[in-house]
Amino acid sequence: MTELADRFLPYGRHRVDEDDIEAVARVLRGDFLTTGPAVEAFEGRLAEITGADFAVSCSSGTAALHLATMAMGLGPGDKAVVPTITFLATANAVRYVGADVVFCDVDADSGLMRPRDLERAIAEHGAAIKAVLPVHLAGQSPDLAGIAEIARRHGVTVIEDASHALGAAYPGRGGEAAVGSCRDGEMAAFSFHPVKTVAMGEGGAVTTNDPALAARMGKLRSHGMVRDGAADPWIYEMPEIGFNYRASDIHCALGLSQLGKLDGFVERRRRLAARYDQLLAPLNPVVRPLAHMPGCRPAWHLYVALFDFNGAGIGRAELMGRLKKQGIGSQVHYIPVHSQPYYRDLYGKTELPGARAYYARCLSLPLFPAMADDDPERVVAAIESALKRT
Ligand SMILES: Cc1ncc(COP(=O)(O)O)c(C=O)c1O
Repeated sequence: MTELADRFLPYGRHRVDEDDIEAVARVLRGDFLTTGPAVEAFEGRLAEITGADFAVSCSSGTAALHLATMAMGLGPGDKAVVPTITFLATANAVRYVGADVVFCDVDADSGLMRPRDLERAIAEHGAAIKAVLPVHLAGQSPDLAGIAEIARRHGVTVIEDASHALGAAYPGRGGEAAVGSCRDGEMAAFSFHPVKTVAMGEGGAVTTNDPALAARMGKLRSHGMVRDGAADPWIYEMPEIGFNYRASDIHCALGLSQLGKLDGFVERRRRLAARYDQLLAPLNPVVRPLAHMPGCRPAWHLYVALFDFNGAGIGRAELMGRLKKQGIGSQVHYIPVHSQPYYRDLYGKTELPGARAYYARCLSLPLFPAMADDDPERVVAAIESALKRT
């Protein structure tokens, strides 16, 4: 792992140790490669960690979001509010069920949607808005209590896209809440893609406190099949159509092993992010950290820095190229989803100024637990030298 520091530093990377490999190997030597005990164990542990009553595992974060939109009954004629600064999957999960996306703006300095963004969408689209999908961008939470309060008043279901934020906490209704506890929403979707805090290869889950939603997602992830109650043992019925979105025991064994390391992963990410904050401070106002939400304890999945590229006299592509030459990866999270050709063709051009200002400045720097202690120094020194050469 440590030799990574001498090689290329990607913006994110999983950390898999020998005990993770052994956990997977045990499943491979056992009786169940799928629908076995590792799936239940993983779900039980995830429910414990988040404090939610139920965790339903599935094959990806995208599948998790789709299960959530299906389970709540979102469909044609309905609309769902999605912050435009997110990964494609948040919006696509709304389209998969035939509903329409209402893209909302975000705060230019944090990239997070605000309660007023939901309020504005409801004012413009009225009762057609049936869901909102707030995103815990980079591992930091939006004002969920504020969003949930508006959602409740208007009968809007809250599906959190918590893909980035396992292990984070935020100021919820009635005090600090764990991300995924669903204190301020009906469901929270997670991704366990390798760049996320916990890796399954591909994997996802939805947490909820609603037994009916949990049961429905359990059926929908397995074709919509129901087996209970039939007199004949071979009978299964499909009252509604579902998918094969199951996570295998192989994936869940890796996920369970990784969940055991969550605290250490989050702590390490927090320490590295704090070091970046310190090292970048002298470059302010040309480079700034993301605005921090008061009362949040983020589980930094990404370290996003905001660059004044105009002020620095360097384009983003040029900076990324110079960093790459010095062995440092960087990435943009995210291109506003409403500007994607599919959504532009569907809904026309939309002006979202906060998102435009955020997108113009964001660049994600390397952040992952296996980074060496002095890697942030190496990254910031490379940024300084790249900026000086303009
Ligand atoms: C915010 C967000 N939502 C959803 C997803 C989809 O997750 P997955 O890649 O596991 O399908 C991702 C992953 O990239 C994401 O970053």
